[in-house]
Order: sequence, then C-alpha cells, then structure tokens
Amino acid sequence: MRKYLVIGNPIGHSLSPLIQNYWIKKHHLVESIYERKKVEEKDLKNIIEEIREDEIVGVNITVPFKKLIIPFLDELDFVAKETQSVNTLFKINNKIVGYNTDSAGFWDSIKELYPYNKNSAMPKPLVGKHIFILGAGGVTSSIIFALKSKGANIVLSNRTKEKANELKKLFPEIEVLDWGKRPSACNIVINTSSVGLIKDEEVKIDFSDYDKNFHKNTLFYDLIYNPKETIFLKKARLRGNKTMNGKMMFLNQAKYAFNIWTNILPEIDDEVVKLLD
Ligand code: ATR
Repeated sequence: MRKYLVIGNPIGHSLSPLIQNYWIKKHHLVESIYERKKVEEKDLKNIIEEIREDEIVGVNITVPFKKLIIPFLDELDFVAKETQSVNTLFKINNKIVGYNTDSAGFWDSIKELYPYNKNSAMPKPLVGKHIFILGAGGVTSSIIFALKSKGANIVLSNRTKEKANELKKLFPEIEVLDWGKRPSACNIVINTSSVGLIKDEEVKIDFSDYDKNFHKNTLFYDLIYNPKETIFLKKARLRGNKTMNGKMMFLNQAKYAFNIWTNILPEIDDEVVKLLD
C-alpha cells in the first residue's frame, strides 16, 4: 500500500483527502490511499522516520507545523527555504525534502488576471501594483513570496505587529502597518488571517471608499473558502470590486503536491472543483 498523509492540528476539517483520493482514483493509482492524521509536535520526528522507512510515501503539512517541520528535514526546495514554510514532503535519493507548493498554487489562482507582457522592458506582471496583505499566519510568507517575485509592492498588517515584523526580516522590501490602518491605494487586498472562518466574523478595516468605478478592478482575495463568501468578500462584491476565495489556491497547491509524488500533473476539472462545494 502506498500511503499519503496530511498532518496538522486540528485536522478534522481538512479537505485534502477528498481531493487527493479523487485524483488517485482518476489516475488509477492502485494500492494508494491518502488519509488525514492529527499530530502533536512531538510526533513530527516519527512521521519523518516513517517516510524514511517507506511506510509513508508523501505528506502534506498544515497549520501549525509548516515551519516547525523544517528542523527535521534533510533538504528544502527553493521556495520552502525562502518562505520558511513547508507544505509537502517527499523522499528523493534517500533525503527527506520539504517543498512549498502554496506559493505556486496561489499564483496559479490569479495569474490569468495579471498576464505577463513579454514586450515590456519589465515583464514582471505585478510591477507597479500595490498589494495589501492582512494577517501574518503560517501561509502568509507563501503569499508574499509569490507576489514579490512578480514585482509587486507589498504592505503587510497583522494584529500582533511582531509577527508582521518577523516576516519583514524574511522579506525586507515589504512595509509593515499598524493593525487597523491601511494604505490608500491597493490593487489587491488579501486576507490571510483566520478572521471570517467563523460566520459573522469580520475584518474591521474600512474599504467603503472603494466603491468608485475605477476601483472595479481591485481584487479582494480571501484565503478562506469555507464559508465560500466571508463578510470581507461580500462587502467587496457589493461595492463592485473583483473577489476571489481560497478554493483555487487550495486546489492548485494540491495539484503540485500530487505532481511531486506521482509525476502526474492532475487537471483541475469541474468535478474536482465541485468536490469543495
Ligand atoms: P498560525 O499563526 O498558527 O499559523 P494561522 O491561522 O495561520 O495560525 O494565523 C492566524 C492569523 O489570523 C494571524 O495573523 C492572527 O493574528 P495574530 O498574529 O495577531 O494572532 C490572525 N487573527 C486571528 N484572529 C484574529 C482577530 N480576531 N483579529 C485579527 N487577526 C486575527
């Protein structure tokens, strides 16, 4: 049996098994199964040993272990190193390697909105764009990495300012604002905080001035996809802004993890999208 796991704490809400087992079946990977497992920090060492002994083939890591797993690994891929965040494990040449597929998964979810201009002297698609990121949790560094590598200007704000300042050590080019404040100009506003996971919870930052016609291309993006539309997104939609939830990022990071383990890049078809509804 080829066994795959997603580990985290809590883990009961994880929809990764639904998606990964759908692709396992679709691609006829017999004798393969993907399960979720709630673990404590003290269990991380054992998980790595199980990969080493081929008892587990591949692992996804979720909150709160994306950084905590790093000391147990033999190698990190480039993005995992830059973000200090790992969401996928696989053994290659007897080395346990940590990958970050969140960052590429996030970019895949918005790249059609910001196409490369090959004729431009500065072909990075987000040069001149102002991005405001709310929250400084486990996945925020992946979002920052994706955006800064496309040339964006990034402003970050988090309730606990020290955590935003920690991210500034990793990415010195970002600007940190006190919680509650916001830059005047934003092309994209991204909620990476957990505010909105509970119904009726709301990010208390006022964007009511974004109701003018020229703001209709401003994208409000919430990494949360359950609920499908947080208050943050609902207000943006009603103002006439573009909105997106975290569903496509989730599917795309899963696609790249599946690719690392199986060499197959699965298609994000309507059926797999519907699995998350
Ligand atoms: P972790 O930090 O363990 O990775 P996370 O769910 O990825 O957990 O991150 C939670 C994020 O949501 C943090 O940025 C957190 O802010 P703090 O660093 O101040 O805790 C943010 N968050 C959670 N509840 C919040 C609230 N009520 N108001 C503002 N931000 C909140």
